[in-house]
Amino acid sequence: MTAPVQLAEVRKVYGTGPSAVTALGGVSYSFTEGTFTAVMGPSGSGKSTLLHCAAGLDEPTAGEVHLTGIPLHGLNETALTELRREHVAFVFQAFNLMPALTVRQNVVLPMTLAGRFPDQAWVSEVIQRVGLGDRTRHRPGELSGGQQQRVAIARALAGRAAITFADEPTGALDTQTALEVLTLLRDQARAAGQTIVMVTHDPVAASYADNVVFLVDGQIVSESPAPTAESVAAELAKLSRLKVTT
Ligand SMILES: Nc1ncnc2c1ncn2[C@@H]1O[C@H](COP(=O)(O)OP(=O)(O)OP(=O)(O)O)[C@@H](O)[C@H]1O
Ligand SMILES: [Mg+2]
Repeated sequence: MTAPVQLAEVRKVYGTGPSAVTALGGVSYSFTEGTFTAVMGPSGSGKSTLLHCAAGLDEPTAGEVHLTGIPLHGLNETALTELRREHVAFVFQAFNLMPALTVRQNVVLPMTLAGRFPDQAWVSEVIQRVGLGDRTRHRPGELSGGQQQRVAIARALAGRAAITFADEPTGALDTQTALEVLTLLRDQARAAGQTIVMVTHDPVAASYADNVVFLVDGQIVSESPAPTAESVAAELAKLSRLKVTT
């Protein structure tokens, strides 16, 4: 079976000449169907770049990305947009909510744009589960940062995309809401077979995933299947020592 997200020797270099920065130094990895993977690593290690390249939002300098078995390098912008609309959802650090639309309208927007009919009961459930049940008619400007983040999470989950990328989705949330969101992500991978890739700095958040991959200086340096908060924290401590001494 083809993995929904495959990266082969993906390199990403920003800029040229002496100021060039190698954000990804040749990453190969397959995110398998129905798995929830956490991506961890120090600030600047290439986590967001990995997500952007994997999602076809940023073009690798070298290497190949396949999404749902389709090679992205062969696609023009229109075909790429179509592919993303059909199969991919995002939660990014900038939430990209539409200020003129209500919470519920924002949540169903990607489906509307893709010409699909939202499952209204599921949309309501997702909005409830992220704790915005009493806010559906509010606009983003009337919400706190954490609440806006929850709208972005609901929007990503409402369409049951085959692949979901989330960049620190629980970063601005209180513990209780964060746990609810992480449970929701885990359930979607387990029950609905969605492939979920989440960047996080938090070992507790990572412990909800099926697998953790650790990035250091643009390279995957280790993996932690069946992670616990303790095992993830220990691995991070080990990697930070490794980084200092090399
Ligand atoms: N558009 C860009 N132009 C130039 N350099 C960039 C650009 N985007 C990222 N970089 C550089 O690439 C490297 C990896 O950045 P990236 O954003 O992927 O890190 P990250 O692991 O997501 O960090 P953080 O945890 O702080 O979000 C960094 O050195 C960063 O400065
Ligand atoms: Mg980042």
